[in-house]
Amino acid sequence: MHGRDYAGVPYRPARMPVEQSLATAARLREQMWQRRTVRAFSTDPVPEQLVLDAISVASTAPSGAHQQPWTFVLVSDPQVRAHIREAAEAEEHEAYAGRLGEQWLSALRPLGTDEHKPHLTDAPHLVVVFEQRYFLGPDGSSHKHYYVNESVGIAVGMLLTALHLSGLAALTHTPSPMRFLSEVLNRPHNEKAFAVIPIGYPAPDAEVPDLVRKSLDQVLVRV
Ligand SMILES: Cc1cc2nc3c(=O)[nH]c(=O)nc-3n(C[C@H](O)[C@H](O)[C@H](O)COP(=O)(O)O)c2cc1C
Repeated sequence: MHGRDYAGVPYRPARMPVEQSLATAARLREQMWQRRTVRAFSTDPVPEQLVLDAISVASTAPSGAHQQPWTFVLVSDPQVRAHIREAAEAEEHEAYAGRLGEQWLSALRPLGTDEHKPHLTDAPHLVVVFEQRYFLGPDGSSHKHYYVNESVGIAVGMLLTALHLSGLAALTHTPSPMRFLSEVLNRPHNEKAFAVIPIGYPAPDAEVPDLVRKSLDQVLVRV
């Protein structure tokens, strides 16, 4: 049934009583509906351990062939954050000046975003997520990774969930293009930037766009 390389270990977690499951699921639903993407951060410090724990949660994500094709670069040094902001704002200036195209710009208008990215220096930590498009062997040979985007997307979802449940705010920021991040952070050529995630507490006067989420009925199809 399993290949020659297969080795199993027992997996017998205690089954949660149904009442407890239902209460846990309902509480999680309430908590997760409170999550918002924050773009205005307080400069208050955040214990690094909270971020490390969230990254550790993210790295438990399922991944294609268990290749875990992700690297999380934690940037807390103010000078490096300033460098990233400067490079991101240069790219975003071009993007908002027209590179995105009218359709994309009009989709962004309700979010109130523009080329200014103060969150990159206000938030005390940035996690820059890289996807490993292929694996580099010790001899420099490259090996294919499977389902890289899907795997890294799931890991980032788990990172955002862990940060939110730990009482922190985050932004999923995807400056376009993101090549400058590989240069600033000196990443190897098998890695490609996936997202920059500023992490901290919301600024005291933070606002978020008044968005409406799809209801369960709108996203669920029962067969
Ligand atoms: C893949 C992805 C890329 C995103 N890129 C950006 C971005 O570059 N800048 C930004 O301000 N928000 C970005 N967002 C955040 C979305 O705008 C936000 O999730 C959406 O408006 C819903 O708001 P909510 O997260 O508060 O529910 C991104 C989100 C995702 C999932």
